[in-house]
Amino acid sequence: MSKIFPPKADSPPVKKFSEGFLWGAATSAHQVEGNNHNDWTQWEKENADFILKGYPNPLQEENYISGKACDHYNRYEEDFDIAKSLDHNAHRFSIEWSRVEPEEGKFNEKEIEHYRDVICALRKRGIEPFVTLWHWTLPLWISKNGGWENRKTVRYFARYCEKVVYALREDVKFWITLNEPVVHAKISYLEGRWPPQKKNFFSFLRVFRNLAHGHNLAYSSIKKIKPESQIGIAHNMSFFEVERKNFISLLVKWFGEWWKNYRFLNAISKCQDFIGFNYYSHYKVGWRKYKIKTEEISDMGWAMYPKGIYLMLSALKKYRKPLFITENGLADARDQYRSWFIIEHLKWVSEAIKDNVDVRGYFYWSLLDNFEWSDGFWPRFGLVEIDYETLERKPRPSSKVYAEIAKANGINETTKVKEEK
Ligand code: FCB
Repeated sequence: MSKIFPPKADSPPVKKFSEGFLWGAATSAHQVEGNNHNDWTQWEKENADFILKGYPNPLQEENYISGKACDHYNRYEEDFDIAKSLDHNAHRFSIEWSRVEPEEGKFNEKEIEHYRDVICALRKRGIEPFVTLWHWTLPLWISKNGGWENRKTVRYFARYCEKVVYALREDVKFWITLNEPVVHAKISYLEGRWPPQKKNFFSFLRVFRNLAHGHNLAYSSIKKIKPESQIGIAHNMSFFEVERKNFISLLVKWFGEWWKNYRFLNAISKCQDFIGFNYYSHYKVGWRKYKIKTEEISDMGWAMYPKGIYLMLSALKKYRKPLFITENGLADARDQYRSWFIIEHLKWVSEAIKDNVDVRGYFYWSLLDNFEWSDGFWPRFGLVEIDYETLERKPRPSSKVYAEIAKANGINETTKVKEEK
């Protein structure tokens, strides 16, 4: 029997969404495609050795190596059939830079054709593609030259974007240049947990600046190719709430929001047609930052706090741009909380819309279980379960609940958290 949360006293009432609202799920190339050759694939072996030597761990090396992943590179038609059967009318995925430009300036036309086929497969099913141009992985020739720390990467990135956008311009309206740039800069260059594992504040600042320049340059190049293109980033943002209203707490909140949410958005403010918002976390702050204390935590230990999506969307209203929730989801292998999670977040999204916040779409993370970076395959984020032995796809009960919402373009009185059989 699945755990079902009692209705929350502060849950907003049930709602319809605006006409043409986009309902979908997201993936990224490295996490689902399989058989990639980039800075991550190179690093994964070292990471696995380090983790497995470090402390007793029930997981095997395969958990930490992306390998064949979900083989989505070959099975995308099957996966889009599933998305279609679940009433999705939009889908976010990423193009793998290392496939398209495996060597400096040498573009692989066959790989570009592959992505054209992927986009056509979505269009044929009536699914709007949201195409991410960079979701964290780098071609080896870029990472060997310092990745985003090197100023030259800005131009290389814009050139790669130009090449891809020119080739696919007829079939794509929405482009996401960068996925979570601040997360990449922070975890890879400040915390040193992801490749290239640096812990240097100045490197962090350089990466941050180059990513912003990379976006801005790519934005102008794409606009020159096709002015009607809609371009943004997928930005991980957290709502910071004060524990008590005092000077220190308010200062920590102001700084936290500026540092994590607004600094990057402000650096690219003239080059955005929409804001893509990835929502996973909400913090309470006092003299320092606290994670929200709640019993409702996912398999990753992340607190679930649906109201935070409303608070954050309301805070983003000041940018006067269309907003898309480009990621929101949880690791939940037993599918205990996912239906509740989706329903509650969407109720709060509808509440934001009621307050005239211009929200135009929602992408659950993720369509499929996939390779969750340094944690590997164990976290199960998918609407669809993957058996990594057989690669069989099995939609989870919660995927049907989300499908009902997408089909009805809203949450009806009858939309219920489904119990596991
Ligand atoms: C986001 C990433 C995405 C996935 C989810 C769980 O920060 O953009 O690739 O790992 O977290």
